[in-house]
Amino acid sequence: MNLIYLIGMPGSGKSYWGSIWGDKYGYEVVDLDFNIERHAGVRISDIFYGMGEQGFRSIEAAVLLETITAARGQNTVIVTGGGTPVFDGNFKTMQRTGFIVYLEATIPYLVKNLEITPQIHRPLIGEPTPEILEGLLQKRRTFYEQADMTVNAEELSKDTFAEIQKACIDRQLSWAQSRPWQQ
Ligand code: S3P
Repeated sequence: MNLIYLIGMPGSGKSYWGSIWGDKYGYEVVDLDFNIERHAGVRISDIFYGMGEQGFRSIEAAVLLETITAARGQNTVIVTGGGTPVFDGNFKTMQRTGFIVYLEATIPYLVKNLEITPQIHRPLIGEPTPEILEGLLQKRRTFYEQADMTVNAEELSKDTFAEIQKACIDRQLSWAQSRPWQQ
């Protein structure tokens, strides 16, 4: 069973590619933002306005754990929110349980994508200016760069997921070889 996390900035294409790859390669695709809204019973923007970012982050961390538990036993892609890896030990949780793929993109690419998508679930961004995105990326880069694999978000295709799967399986094999007593 493979559990693959897509991480990266808002606008990097995590949801888009997650669903394309899931369809083509027969993976369940779970969108963490969607699960957060279902869990809370309100929109992400309402969680931010009612409970602040900290409130949102505690719900996000709890829903990440729930989502991992629910994914057990089936090949799954979990599409995370842009801030998920940075808060509440989420990155360690993801490292322990699956294979983390960072969709790396330039600021102009993110701005271009965010300008044509609704910002309703992104209260942190509001107007997607290069300055706002650069500020967020600065704080997040050290986490993103610890992913198991980095792909260029601007050059993705359906075939990229074959490479991701191969890297994920290779890592499982090398873990198994280094721990023969656990076979
Ligand atoms: C956030 C990104 C959003 C959503 C929330 C917080 C962030 O998800 O989780 O608004 O901190 O960057 P996307 O990355 O899908 O936009």
